[in-house]
Amino acid sequence: MSTLLTGAVAATAVDLAGRDALPAYVYDLDHLDAHTAALCADVRTAGAAAGLRLEVLHAVKANPDPGVLATAARHVDGLEVASGGELAHVRRHMPGVELAFGGPGKTDAELAAAVAARVARYHVESRTELRRLDAAARAAGAVVTVLLRVNIPGGPVQGAALTMGGTPSPFGMDPAEADACAAARAALPGVRIAGVHAHLASGLDPVGCAAQGAAVLGWALDFGRRHRMRLDEVNVGGGMAVDYHRPDRLFDWAEYGRLLAGHAAAHRDGGAEPVLRIEPGRAVSAYSGWYITRVLELKRSHGEWFAVCLGGTHHLRTPAAKGHDQPLVVLATDGWDRPWARPDTGAEAAVTFVGQLCTPKDVLARRVRAGRVRAGDVVVFALAGAYAYNISHRDFLLHPGPHVVHLGTAG
Ligand SMILES: Cc1ncc(COP(=O)(O)O)c(C=O)c1O
Repeated sequence: MSTLLTGAVAATAVDLAGRDALPAYVYDLDHLDAHTAALCADVRTAGAAAGLRLEVLHAVKANPDPGVLATAARHVDGLEVASGGELAHVRRHMPGVELAFGGPGKTDAELAAAVAARVARYHVESRTELRRLDAAARAAGAVVTVLLRVNIPGGPVQGAALTMGGTPSPFGMDPAEADACAAARAALPGVRIAGVHAHLASGLDPVGCAAQGAAVLGWALDFGRRHRMRLDEVNVGGGMAVDYHRPDRLFDWAEYGRLLAGHAAAHRDGGAEPVLRIEPGRAVSAYSGWYITRVLELKRSHGEWFAVCLGGTHHLRTPAAKGHDQPLVVLATDGWDRPWARPDTGAEAAVTFVGQLCTPKDVLARRVRAGRVRAGDVVVFALAGAYAYNISHRDFLLHPGPHVVHLGTAG
């Protein structure tokens, strides 16, 4: 299956153009269903082969679309929410799904809401947050399960696109703070520290991602030994790469699972082993979403071609946020209904695809050779299923929002 365009998405694009229903996000839920099922199977199989329990949580922040979440939730072991808003959203659409509550800066009201919503586990970011959670749990007569989110030392993770740990950062707590949490646990009867969580970096290949997981696991096991605490679970975070420059190069989940399980097996000391969890976001849903629009104006400026598309980065901020060219396919569209001559780049031109915003930053892809581009053509941007519409500055200039279309029967 091509990662750029499938037959179903191409047919939908033509249909939407014919109905004047562009720009639109198209989520292919059957595509997502098959992809998520396969990656979960790869990871679990690799764990089982090494005698380990490897579980998959999905980070809701990648895309809160209810159809996308419900589809992923069919296969993963739970969802990670990172705000009271995500918590309420998931509970509304999927009341029964198992949740982990992470994210920096949780308010008291969010913690109380999470306790009331019976969240399964909390990724706690500081000693103060641990105390506030303890108070919220005791107020509700509950004891809640906690993983301490630790910023383990080691310097920036090599090869990462985004770094959240290993260096000074607002995410998680320093090891000394984790030690203080462990030392204080007897005085905090509302919380049970069951393990360690870390998400140190994003955008890693299988080798880098597994090495990062091994570093977290090694640190966590040592932490447990030092404090004579049995660790039930260790969450090594997400960060599996999506390659926007080479869309066909997919993250190899089987290799990642095998490497991670191998590292974990090497840490065995004969004692009870914690459940090992991963928490991917981007690499789960990115490939199952497309942003489809059409060329409104084609112009030549000082020798360069620009295709001004309906919509723009206020719908799809991913290329502006990450500094890449969003992969795209141009679908030649006949039946353009303007009576005057239709501008046309010719077959060889390099074209910059921009949106409708009054800023030079509204660029979706630069100097792309995508074949002949004409005003009125449909442009399909691929890999738009994660950190796309939901991270976009949608109110800038108050253009209308995109249509949202779900394909398939999963979800
Ligand atoms: C705590 C945490 N877990 C998981 C993720 C998901 O990361 P990714 O989408 O790179 O897999 C993030 C992303 O920022 C995160 O902050």
